[in-house]
Amino acid sequence: MARLSNQLIVGVLGAFLIFYTFVYNIEPKIIYINTDGEPIDYSALAPLQKEQQWKTQQRENATFVSLARNSEMYQLVESIRRVEDRFNRKFHYDWVFLNDEPFSDEFKALTSSIVSGTAKYGLIPKEHWGYPDYIDQKKAKASRDKMKADNIIYGESESYRHMCRFESGFFFNHPLMLDYEWYWRVEPDVHIYCDVDYDLFKYMRENNKTYGFAISIHEFVKTIPTLWDTTKKFVEENPEVIAENNLIDFVSNDGGKSYNLCHFWSNFEIANMNFWRSDTYQKYFDYLDRSGGFFYERWGDAPVHSIAASLFLPKDQIHYFDDIGYRHGVYAQCPLNADLRYKNKCHCKPEDDFTFRGYSCGKQYFAAQGLVKPQEWVDYQ
Ligand SMILES: *[C@@H]1O[C@H](CO)[C@@H](O)[C@H](O)[C@H]1NC(C)=O
Ligand SMILES: *[C@@H]1O[C@H](CO)[C@@H](O)[C@H](O)[C@H]1NC(C)=O
Repeated sequence: MARLSNQLIVGVLGAFLIFYTFVYNIEPKIIYINTDGEPIDYSALAPLQKEQQWKTQQRENATFVSLARNSEMYQLVESIRRVEDRFNRKFHYDWVFLNDEPFSDEFKALTSSIVSGTAKYGLIPKEHWGYPDYIDQKKAKASRDKMKADNIIYGESESYRHMCRFESGFFFNHPLMLDYEWYWRVEPDVHIYCDVDYDLFKYMRENNKTYGFAISIHEFVKTIPTLWDTTKKFVEENPEVIAENNLIDFVSNDGGKSYNLCHFWSNFEIANMNFWRSDTYQKYFDYLDRSGGFFYERWGDAPVHSIAASLFLPKDQIHYFDDIGYRHGVYAQCPLNADLRYKNKCHCKPEDDFTFRGYSCGKQYFAAQGLVKPQEWVDYQ
């Protein structure tokens, strides 16, 4: 009898303990007291409340995507670590890695150890990374040799051309990407300079945005001599593709007669893949592809994406992320407003901000959108 009631007491106590722990775990009662023993101001709780909100927030139908080689592993994990620290550790979005060769076990182990969502690894099918049968490979080779002689950046590179064509026309139809609607593109060696405490994908969806960018810039004219004329021919044959209230003034200074070389720098892109998957864009890409410019010239995916977004989307669906703090190579975006930098804990130098410098297209973008430039811009042009 005595043993039984002992067991009963232990059982009741145990159940109480489990219940107590459970209740306290779902609703932690944390009291904030400063060093003088007084409760801390309510606003000091804000970061904790944000954390709670991130934990319970519904994720968007979105993923990160990185095209990378095994040899770029360490440059890429630097980018991933930065994106995770500033953004994704709060939201845990998946990450799709794509490569035209199989990823090494080391690459998979290291990257998946850092990604806080699910990491997925895909091989690019041969037909998305090679010559279509309508391309004259001798002509393509002659053009690469000529571009090399002319010292055009990546002018001699075959793989760079395959990469640009893949990013222009195929990445969003890779089987791993078909599971998602939105993506954020991340390349090796990029920096994120500010805390991003809101879900950028959610922002895009709720505000009806389709395409988002951080840096815009001029293209090298020698890489795209016939891209604009080919686009004009496409539009003449398919006038219905042009959106009302589009952003043509971002890509042309003369109402569409010529290309001003402005484009969104596509190494950072947050966009909705339904746009790339649409009949309009597919038709445009096929038209460009058949003209051969990805191989006979060296068309980049950035001008191709940018021209499409600027002509085929209403301009209010294009968004400039001015609060990320982003660097790729020598060009950086850094919020010019000091309060914004402090609020978002940015560690970039406003002097490095490229947005309103001569070679950037920030001024064209602000004008085309009818946006007011930040008042600090005059000191950073
Ligand atoms: C996400 O988007 C893809 C592509 O549109 C779709 O096939 C998939 O069903 C969506 N997933 C969810 C959970 O809505
Ligand atoms: C987004 O589009 C929907 C449907 O057209 C509209 O109802 C909604 O008000 C729009 N939201 C914003 C923030 O513009």
